[in-house]
Amino acid sequence: MRSEIASLLAFGTLSASAQPSTSPSSKGTVACPRNTVFRPISASQWVKAASPGWNLGNTLDAVPDEGSWNNPPVQGHVFDDVKAAGYKSVRIPVTYADHYVGSTPDWTINSTWLKRVSDVVDMATSRGLYVLTNMHHDSWRWADVSQPDANITMIQEKFYQSWLQIGKTLGCKSEMVALEPINEPPGSSATDAQNLMKLNDIFLKALADSGGFNGRRVVTLSSLGMGLGNTPLFTRPTNITNPWAFQFHYYSPYDFDFGAWGKTVWGSEADKATVLADFTQARGNFTDVPIIMGEFDASQLNCEAAARWKWFDHVVRTASSLDISGFLWDNGLDNLQRETGTWRDAIAVDITMHAIRGANNSLADSTTDVSATVQNSSAYIFHKVGDNVTDQQVPFLLNGNAFRSLSVEGTPLKKGTDYDVSGSTLTIKEKFLSKYLSPTAEPGTKANITRTFSAGAKSQIEIVQWDVPTIIQNTSSASAVSSGNDLWIPVVWKGLHRVAAVKIVASDGTYVFDDWTQWLPPLQQGRGTYGNQWSFDFDRLTITNSALQAVITSGKTTTFTFEFYPRAVGNGNYLNYTLTP
Ligand SMILES: *[C@@H]1O[C@H](CO)[C@@H](O)[C@H](O)[C@H]1NC(C)=O
Ligand SMILES: *[C@@H]1O[C@H](CO)[C@@H](O)[C@H](O)[C@H]1NC(C)=O
Ligand SMILES: *[C@@H]1O[C@H](CO)[C@@H](O)[C@H](O)[C@H]1NC(C)=O
Ligand SMILES: *[C@@H]1O[C@H](CO)[C@@H](O)[C@H](O)[C@H]1NC(C)=O
Ligand SMILES: *[C@@H]1O[C@H](CO)[C@@H](O)[C@H](O)[C@H]1NC(C)=O
Ligand SMILES: *[C@@H]1O[C@H](CO)[C@@H](O)[C@H](O)[C@H]1NC(C)=O
Ligand SMILES: *[C@@H]1O[C@H](CO)[C@@H](O)[C@H](O)[C@H]1NC(C)=O
Ligand SMILES: *[C@@H]1O[C@H](CO)[C@@H](O)[C@H](O)[C@H]1NC(C)=O
Ligand SMILES: *[C@@H]1O[C@H](CO)[C@@H](O)[C@H](O)[C@H]1NC(C)=O
Ligand SMILES: *[C@@H]1O[C@H](CO)[C@@H](O)[C@H](O)[C@H]1NC(C)=O
Repeated sequence: MRSEIASLLAFGTLSASAQPSTSPSSKGTVACPRNTVFRPISASQWVKAASPGWNLGNTLDAVPDEGSWNNPPVQGHVFDDVKAAGYKSVRIPVTYADHYVGSTPDWTINSTWLKRVSDVVDMATSRGLYVLTNMHHDSWRWADVSQPDANITMIQEKFYQSWLQIGKTLGCKSEMVALEPINEPPGSSATDAQNLMKLNDIFLKALADSGGFNGRRVVTLSSLGMGLGNTPLFTRPTNITNPWAFQFHYYSPYDFDFGAWGKTVWGSEADKATVLADFTQARGNFTDVPIIMGEFDASQLNCEAAARWKWFDHVVRTASSLDISGFLWDNGLDNLQRETGTWRDAIAVDITMHAIRGANNSLADSTTDVSATVQNSSAYIFHKVGDNVTDQQVPFLLNGNAFRSLSVEGTPLKKGTDYDVSGSTLTIKEKFLSKYLSPTAEPGTKANITRTFSAGAKSQIEIVQWDVPTIIQNTSSASAVSSGNDLWIPVVWKGLHRVAAVKIVASDGTYVFDDWTQWLPPLQQGRGTYGNQWSFDFDRLTITNSALQAVITSGKTTTFTFEFYPRAVGNGNYLNYTLTP
């Protein structure tokens, strides 16, 4: 793309002033070295070349500093791994809030920090990755125009000065670097929207004033919160000369993506139609500018694996079909394990890479009906301790492909002996499964069968012997936890090391949270939300401080039922923990 100057010139949307050039704009304050190369590129060309993208989340956007959250300062090998997986670009969110060394009227940013941002951008582009960078948590730290006491004058002044400095810092970067004014700006009213559109204008003005190549650099613009629901509040900057794309973020449906209200399945026709309707409306609103989905993810910590694969396949495929490019959100806990370079859900990455090219993926079948009382998933063969091993049926959604091979760590399985195929259903035979499973085998993950097809992504069947995890103590007092702390419950996992959902019921039978969930199906009623009331990690279950406070306030003894995979009403795969106020 970068060397194809002739084809860029042939592209109709390039204006005469946007000829390929090696000299910067004469206006502005940054003069780029003579050998700096910037080949003007349309927003469509940038978006196409940058797709699919990956987010360097919880890193330079961490508060107060890079390294303050769950990720160490980024090193080049992370970008190598992202590129090797097939991603073409990196969105680099940056929070400037704690890096100001001056106040009004200049709002000077620490030059060491600006240099770090510049270096990380170079780390990515030097590897051939396109970059989109922004101001990130500044949105709520100081630039929240929706606060009743917001000093709009200050926010506008600081926003201009900040982008002037960032613009000067990045002004001589190549056309591979695109800019985004502010992440998920809070607000909901028409006034908030007007204030945000003013910030978009200020951003463009600051870029023009900063010089370098910024006047011709690709930018993205957004509406309040970056959710599609606020698209009607977006208005286009009247005088925009930069090539631009519209950006939104997609975490939908919320309950599935964020582990809320026991929703662990996805993929019904209605679920798919919602995604299509959302993206079709976005495309209908912006018929003449490219669109990026600057963040999207369904947390691997919450979703059932086959449901997550279906969600990735459908979201990426539908977006691509409407020329919307996706940037996977990765906070460092969900997708790439940065220290080792391994992907926690490599199948989802493979699905993404095939879906974006329009290849059909064969997918593990799984329950999509939220009212089902047994949830099945072909991502797993679950075997309960105490049960005899039997042949297992594993249905797939072939989507036009045929089965090819099955293997475990590179060793092929033998058709007829280890497995059989009938239509779109595999039967994994008892004889093969007995290598790993028995009534008395130690619980845990036993093996992963890799499944390939005539086209599209691989799939995986994880063989898991399960039993109910154990805890040493199953009751305590909420008020005994020292103030502000969560309650940690040490756990010995037995099958998958994951919690599927948590039901929270007071002694009088009422739901302590979200009482309306009584109207949901049996596997969702009374369930709380990951992060709000519960979470888990490698050796413990957690009841959050806010849940403890709610139990104390209610004055009622409350049972937290932690549910594990596989999920079914009455399969006994849960633990009760009772909290007295
Ligand atoms: C700028 O940041 C560097 C690195 O964090 C720090 O050592 C330095 O003290 C900062 N400068 C000012 C003026 O705060
Ligand atoms: C608002 O910000 C401006 C510019 O920084 C400042 O001059 C003014 O005093 C601030 N107003 C209030 C009420 O703080
Ligand atoms: C987007 O489309 C919706 C539905 O067609 C419409 O109500 C809305 O006004 C459009 N918004 C913009 C910014 O074009
Ligand atoms: C757009 O340009 C017109 C004409 O030059 C000018 O009057 C107006 O203030 C500009 N608007 C913005 C938001 O910069
Ligand atoms: C789930 O699996 C069980 C046993 O493997 C089977 O009897 C049942 O029909 C399946 N249910 C669905 C909804 O696929
Ligand atoms: C397992 O198989 C043995 C031998 O066929 C049988 O006696 C036993 O009842 C079976 N156990 C279960 C839990 O089905
Ligand atoms: C891909 O799937 C679609 C929809 O299911 C189908 O119409 C098409 O034939 C498939 N393509 C291939 C190459 O199998
Ligand atoms: C199977 O794959 C999962 C990741 O999808 C991993 O957590 C697990 O450890 C693997 N099991 C084995 C036995 O390798
Ligand atoms: C707590 O553990 C005790 C002893 O193991 C058991 O009898 C009791 O039923 C458990 N209570 C709950 C609520 O699971
Ligand atoms: C666990 O709690 C649930 C919900 O309160 C209750 O229905 C169930 O009987 C309890 N199970 C045990 C073993 O205490």
